Order: sequence, then C-alpha cells, then structure tokens
Amino acid sequence: MLSEKAAYNNGERELDMQYRMHCIYRLFRYFQPLEQHIDIEQRISRSIRQGYLYRNPLTPEYATGLADGFAAMKDKADYHVLRGKSAASGFTIIGVSGVGKSTAVEKILSLYPQKIIHTRYRETPLASTQLVWLKLDCPHDGSLKQLCYQFFYALDMAAGTDYFQLYTKGRYSLDMLLIIMTQLVRLFQIGILVIDEIQHLSEAKGGGSDKMLNFFVTLVNTIGLPVVMIGTTKAMSILQGEFRQARRGSGQGDLIWDRIKNDAVWQVFVKSMWRYQWTKKHVPYSEGMVNMLYDESQGIIDIAVKLYAIVQIEAITSGVESFSASDIHKVAEKKLGLVKPMLDALRSGDRKKILRYEDITPVSIEDYLSAYQVVKPEIQEKTAEKKLTVLEQTVVKLLEVDVEPPVAKRLAGKVIASHKNPVSVGEAFKEAYRLYISEVPDMPETEKSGEDLRESDGYEDIKRKGFVDETEW
Ligand SMILES: Nc1ncnc2c1ncn2[C@@H]1O[C@H](COP(=O)(O)OP(=O)(O)OP(=O)(O)O)[C@@H](O)[C@H]1O
Ligand SMILES: [Mg+2]
Repeated sequence: MLSEKAAYNNGERELDMQYRMHCIYRLFRYFQPLEQHIDIEQRISRSIRQGYLYRNPLTPEYATGLADGFAAMKDKADYHVLRGKSAASGFTIIGVSGVGKSTAVEKILSLYPQKIIHTRYRETPLASTQLVWLKLDCPHDGSLKQLCYQFFYALDMAAGTDYFQLYTKGRYSLDMLLIIMTQLVRLFQIGILVIDEIQHLSEAKGGGSDKMLNFFVTLVNTIGLPVVMIGTTKAMSILQGEFRQARRGSGQGDLIWDRIKNDAVWQVFVKSMWRYQWTKKHVPYSEGMVNMLYDESQGIIDIAVKLYAIVQIEAITSGVESFSASDIHKVAEKKLGLVKPMLDALRSGDRKKILRYEDITPVSIEDYLSAYQVVKPEIQEKTAEKKLTVLEQTVVKLLEVDVEPPVAKRLAGKVIASHKNPVSVGEAFKEAYRLYISEVPDMPETEKSGEDLRESDGYEDIKRKGFVDETEW
C-alpha cells in the first residue's frame, strides 16, 4: 500500500531532450517501501490506537476533560492545571538529513483518512469531527508561539475551520494559546501529532527549547495525545539530559534511523529506481553501478536519487545518451561539493567527525537544472544544428526565399533523392531553386535567364503603370 510507482514508458527514451527533462522529475515521485517503513508504520499504528484508549468521547471523563479545559480558558489558567489519565506514547525519529524521514512518515499517515465526520456511534448519536493526524514543522526560530499558530493553521487546513484567523488576531499570551491548543486537541480528537524539523529547537532563545519539549510531554501525559518528533542528528543534543528521562517515563523511545547499509535493502532500492531511465541507450543495472551509487551517496536516499537524476541529465544534454559507473563518480565530484565533507565523514565511519557535520545541506535539483539552462546553451545549439539534416536545411533555405512550405519540402526531397552521394546544402538549394523557377508558369522570362529587366518586352508596360522611377538610375 505504501509503494508508489511513477509513470514510465520505455518509448519515452525517443522523446526530444526537453521533454525527457520533464520526465526525469518523476524520479522524485516514486516511493519504494523499505524495512524502516514497516517499523515506523507499526509504531505509528500503535501510538494512534493506544492514545485513543482513554479518550472515548462517550465517557464522563471525556466530558469532564473538555469542561476543565474550557474553565482553564476562562480563568486564563496555566496549562499545567490540566490533569488526565493517559496511555499515550510517542517516539522520536532521528536521522541524517535526506534519509527519508519526512517522506516515510507522510506516506504512512496518508494511509489513514485525516478527517472523519461522525454522526453516530453504534446506537448513540455523536456529532464530532475527528482528525486522525496532524503534522507540523517546528518553526525556524524554535518559538513556541509560532508553533501554536502553525498548529491552528494545519488544523484549519484539515478540518475547514478558521481558528488561525481567530487566535492570531487576538493578543493571546503564550500560556493561553497553549491551553487553547490542548482544548482543540481534545475537541477534534486528534489521534497523533507529528512535529518535523525538531532540530530547529536548537535555535530557540532562553530556554525556549525546554519549554516546547515540556509542553509536548504534557500533551502526552495529560491529554493522551501521542507526539512524534522528527529531526536530524542536530536534534540529538537537545533531546539529551533531563528531558530524556521525562520522555522515557512517558513511554517514548527514540528511533535512530541510520542510513541504509550496502546490502540487500540497498539493492532493492536501486533496482526499483533503475527502471526510471530516459537516456536513449539502455544502461543496464549492474553490481558496479549499485556499489558506485552507494559509495557516492553513502546510503542517503535523497543524494542517491538526485545523483541518478543528474547523471542522466548530463548524459542527455551532452548528447552521449549513456553513462557508466565512473560517470556517476565524476558527477558526484563535480556536483556534490557542498555535501562532500559530510559524505567523507560518513565514509570514514568516524563518529566524532560525523557529529561535527550535524546536518548536511540539502541538495537542490532545481539549481542543477537551471544551471544547465544557463551554462549549456552552446551544447543545445550544437545538437540542434547537427540534428537538422541536409534535407531540412535545404528546406529552410528555400523558405527564406519565399518558396511555399509544401513546395519547398517536395523540391528539396526530390533533389536530394536524385543524388546517390551526399550532397551539400548549397548545392541542393541551387538545384531545388532552379527546379522551382522552371516549375512556376507565370514567372517572367527575364528572371529565369537573369537578363536586364529593361530589355524585356514588358518593361514599357511596367513603366507606364508608374512602377519605375528612372531618375534613380
Ligand atoms: N523510499 C523512498 N523511495 C524513493 N524515494 C525516496 C524514498 N525515501 C525518500 N525518498 C526521496 O528522498 C528525498 C528526501 O527525503 P526526505 O525529505 O523525507 O528526507 P528527510 O530525512 O526528511 O530529510 P531532512 O532531515 O532534510 O528533512 C525525497 O524527496 C524523496 O524523493
Ligand atoms: Mg524532512
């Protein structure tokens, strides 16, 4: 259910270069489920279901919780006053940038309907809108207030409400916003909250990161909302220490997502990616390619997919239409300058070095593509010139002297076909034009022979009609 194939047809290899550039983008759409995804799917499935255990909307406890939350809103109380029983547990996913954390979680969440509108539960009427999941990104500056706003926004997007408008306009204090947020979590029966890019917390000023993390623990412990946090290795330091204990207590474990090893999983991934190839020549899947791709990407999916795309773009724009394992190496050398130190650290396997490069800069494929447009017009021109056959060039020349397109095509074709050996464009044009003149019935005699117009019979006629001004001569 998770796997997603991109559209592909082998015949597309024959398309013009510019269309194949579009096709290559499909590489970023396909999805190959791997071992890790099964694990994460099960964790998310357990979290959602365990979290709902104590949140049956038909129980008195649920009603009390909702009423307490409302009272806290009116009294402008601190969110710490909220109490509850909870069976929830969340977890944290930590891994190098680009291993596919966000994609994995998004794919898995998309297996669930995000919004369910209830009208009854068995025999009991029940009017409620349930949001099974909500995913937000941690704000860049790690600000908790911004996080609240993002929460309102994501909730509005999912449920069709307008809390964002309502609560960003009024000047609510942070504590108030947190209470409102917890109340909305209850009201919409949110099943799981996912916070991505949690490493941004390291930018938070003055204990901001502790405050946010504590708030998440509160959500888990009092509301019973499982919270999943996703972050790069940079987030590791924030999640250490005191906070770690708190999370342990609430049943949250860490999932360290290592990059893929060069084993069967990697082969499955490369093999499924290999099918998406748009070079004119078929480049077969081979062990050499698999190993080279691993060595250059160090098992980071994001880099592997982009390398595979760039090596194809290179092959297509250069007109070679094929590539070898050493081309992958060359492209990596040339294009992955920014992430090279990090990849080198990963390659060395030295933990200290790896931690020094806490994050790798994301690689943007757009930059590469636009670079091709800027740097390589001469290549495109050259291939364009080469691609025009003698026939086509002759037609173009004929068109330039105003021969109608269908006639130009026919005559050029006739001339070229009449020669056994290849003929130059100039020669073909001359012959075709001669043919053209001889075919046009009402062409004046003089033009055919190239004589002086003034000596022809019609000259006096033209002069009388005022087309000639002899004073110019
Ligand atoms: N299983 C997969 N099959 C195919 N492509 C994948 C897979 N997983 C990830 N990708 C590709 O890798 C790219 C990066 O993945 P993603 O953004 O999820 O990484 P990340 O770990 O969240 O990185 P960051 O920490 O920088 O946010 C995606 O654009 C996607 O195209
Ligand atoms: Mg991500």
